[in-house]
Amino acid sequence: MFINKEIAQLIILQRIDLSGFFLQKLRKLLGRRFFTSIASKYIISPKTVGKKYIATMNKEYENISKFLNFDGEEILSIGSGLCGLELIINENHSVKKFTIIEKNYISKKVVYGWDNSNSEAYNNLELVKLFLKNNGMDENRFEVFDFDKNTLPTNNFDAIISLYSLDYHYDFTFYLEYFKKVFKKDTKIIFDTIRPEYFENLFDKVEIIDTKEKTVHRSKRIICEGLILKNDN
Ligand SMILES: C[S@@+](CC[C@H](N)C(=O)[O-])C[C@H]1O[C@@H](n2cnc3c(N)ncnc32)[C@H](O)[C@@H]1O
Repeated sequence: MFINKEIAQLIILQRIDLSGFFLQKLRKLLGRRFFTSIASKYIISPKTVGKKYIATMNKEYENISKFLNFDGEEILSIGSGLCGLELIINENHSVKKFTIIEKNYISKKVVYGWDNSNSEAYNNLELVKLFLKNNGMDENRFEVFDFDKNTLPTNNFDAIISLYSLDYHYDFTFYLEYFKKVFKKDTKIIFDTIRPEYFENLFDKVEIIDTKEKTVHRSKRIICEGLILKNDN
């Protein structure tokens, strides 16, 4: 698999649990700023990080592929990180296209909390493209959009995936108006949240598909369908 130091650093910032016991202890001892700029970059082996990342993404794939079809579908990925999950979906299905919306900077000090202003980010879109292309994803199979700078595409998506991003670190409402433009009647969305019941007013169907106890916040993974297009939503 193609991976380099910069990509491995991003993976560690996006998936703190992959950094291992030693780095997590260092983060506690020396602080988040040190962890974000130094430790995550220099005290890691890209090869080991890459292996652990793909193993983790394989597990995510096993989990969500019970609920989504992927074949021939338009998939929207929000906050997809390096897109290891999209690589695995692509290997197993003939997806029509992946549309990826992410942010294009690394916060000085990553906190991993609930971010009211949605200013925290840890990605580099050029590295996402490099990672996808060099690991076998055809260039015309995906398109990457910068949430802060680009006009977002208004295709009708079949499925939307946002793992540990939308409503895990920042409020779902950042995307609500956009979703009203891109949801079809049968579009399905999967994401992680600590407040599954809140979504019963927004969607016709809400189902809990997993419970996460060991992540940064205890959360539920939910699948929702039938966005209710009331004006007061
Ligand atoms: C905890 S990481 C999860 C990454 C990936 N989904 C995974 O499971 O490995 C959260 C990601 O959300 C991204 N992000 C933050 N705000 C965003 C927004 N408004 N739109 C899209 N992505 C966002 C961050 O840059 C970061 O890559």
